[in-house]
Amino acid sequence: MALFQDISLTPELLLATAIFCIVFYVVKALRTRVPKGLKSPPGPWGWPIIGHMLTLGKNPHLSLTKLSKQYGDVLQIRIGSTPVVVLSGLDTIRQALVKKGDDFKGRPDLYSFTFISDGQSLTFNQDTGPVWVARRRLAMDALKSFSIASDPNLLSSCYLEEHVSKEANHLVSKFQKQMEEVGHFEPVNLVVESVANVIGAMCFGKNFPRKSKEMMSLVKNSNDFAENVSSGNAVDFFPVLRYLPNPALKRFKNFNNKFVLFLQKTVQEHYQDFNKNNIQDITGALFMHTENSKDNSVQIPQEKIVNIVNDLFGAGFDTVTTAISWSLLLLVTRPNVQRKIHRELDTVIGRDRQPRLSDRPQLPYLEAFILETFRYTSFLPFTVPHSTTRDTSLNGFHIPKERCIFINQWQVNHDEKQWEDPFEFRPERFLTDDSTAINKTLSEKVMIFGLGKRRCIGETPAKWEVFLFLAILLHQLEFSVPPGLKVDLTPTYGLTMKPPICKHLQAWPRFSK
Ligand code: HEM
Repeated sequence: MALFQDISLTPELLLATAIFCIVFYVVKALRTRVPKGLKSPPGPWGWPIIGHMLTLGKNPHLSLTKLSKQYGDVLQIRIGSTPVVVLSGLDTIRQALVKKGDDFKGRPDLYSFTFISDGQSLTFNQDTGPVWVARRRLAMDALKSFSIASDPNLLSSCYLEEHVSKEANHLVSKFQKQMEEVGHFEPVNLVVESVANVIGAMCFGKNFPRKSKEMMSLVKNSNDFAENVSSGNAVDFFPVLRYLPNPALKRFKNFNNKFVLFLQKTVQEHYQDFNKNNIQDITGALFMHTENSKDNSVQIPQEKIVNIVNDLFGAGFDTVTTAISWSLLLLVTRPNVQRKIHRELDTVIGRDRQPRLSDRPQLPYLEAFILETFRYTSFLPFTVPHSTTRDTSLNGFHIPKERCIFINQWQVNHDEKQWEDPFEFRPERFLTDDSTAINKTLSEKVMIFGLGKRRCIGETPAKWEVFLFLAILLHQLEFSVPPGLKVDLTPTYGLTMKPPICKHLQAWPRFSK
């Protein structure tokens, strides 16, 4: 009795009990209520405050692939205090993004997104309502009309073919000039100019300032963007980092400011000569839509129509440049593969004409090379982060509304259950048994454009563009590096993963014109 009296009188004990009760109730209140029959996604133990930030490390796609082997296709981590569900496995991802597409189509409220396109971006924005649907449809229609749709007024099959043929031939000349002057070159800065000119011409027609210093400096600094909108960027999850010196964040803000200013100026200049009876490019089509906006069922605010071009231009140059840059490095490190592409081009195209888009079905090996480059490099290792729009479930796990979702495309493309020798670069894997066509079922297992409601709207033009650039370059040139030079293929993590800079690429003419 005396013992109990002693304990009950201790003020320290009273205080400790009170703190314990408060903590217990706070933790209980914060824990997600899991409906009967479902479980919370599993995951490793995380540190207080930082959660699993250290686990992600420099290559979150690799760390999260490793974790998926232990915890499965639906796992949960915590970055800072934010829970994040990570999805792996093609079937599970299809289930989420296609079958339950509406539940998983959201975008999380991330700090970095607020700087992109003044927070009005179609891609990096939380809106999933009727305005987003209407903007996405408008972007798809305008992009299609001025890239891949056939137009009887053109000499080429479509705008894309016209612009890419011209730019690819310029690029051949630029490579050759570098060879004559220096004997080798760094390809990315030359490729990005050509690719930016293609999307610039589709967006702005003759109003695109092809040679302006401002444009070139922007497109050459796209890394400042990609490194900050990657899945797991610390600034999005640790608010304190926004107030500490942060050079990467500063470069990102700077890039976005310059990008919006450049595009606003180009749009305004274009408006001076807008003629609604002669629409020649994407911005013209968007101007037209603002004129007719009263007739449309969903009213999109005026400023949200024309700035769709920011998303298209932004998405259109960095991704395609990265694809072509990886392709060139894989070609010089695998001369056998390059020889097979050359042989195919010589047999199908010959030397008297240039490759065209319509040659695609007859060039299955080149097509297989592109698919294998997408799969092997998985240079968009995650999609743009998603979030759930309502409480939902996946594979028996409860996922509450507004949960941040990472989708690991890299894991899908290297899944040992789907791919034989996933770490080998082997284009042949995509060919049918008689090597005359692409194995469609296998090609659909490559995941680099996302899936479902947020699937990339530029997938078809991007695939056609990469094909035609490579076909024209490889038809005319043989690429190599000086004998003995070791080419580093270690990527740098980001929204798009880039190869290391290689300054010693060489290009040799295959025949005189
Ligand atoms: C090889 C080139 C490309 C790759 C690998 C690629 C990949 C992707 C990926 C992974 C996403 C995110 C999907 C998601 O969040 O689930 C995306 C979104 C998007 N892409 Fe692409 N892309 C490429 C080229 C292009 C091009 C050329 C354009 C337009 C000219 C474009 C326009 C867009 C847009 C507007 C979105 C946002 C869609 C939305 O949020 O609803 N992309 N892309």
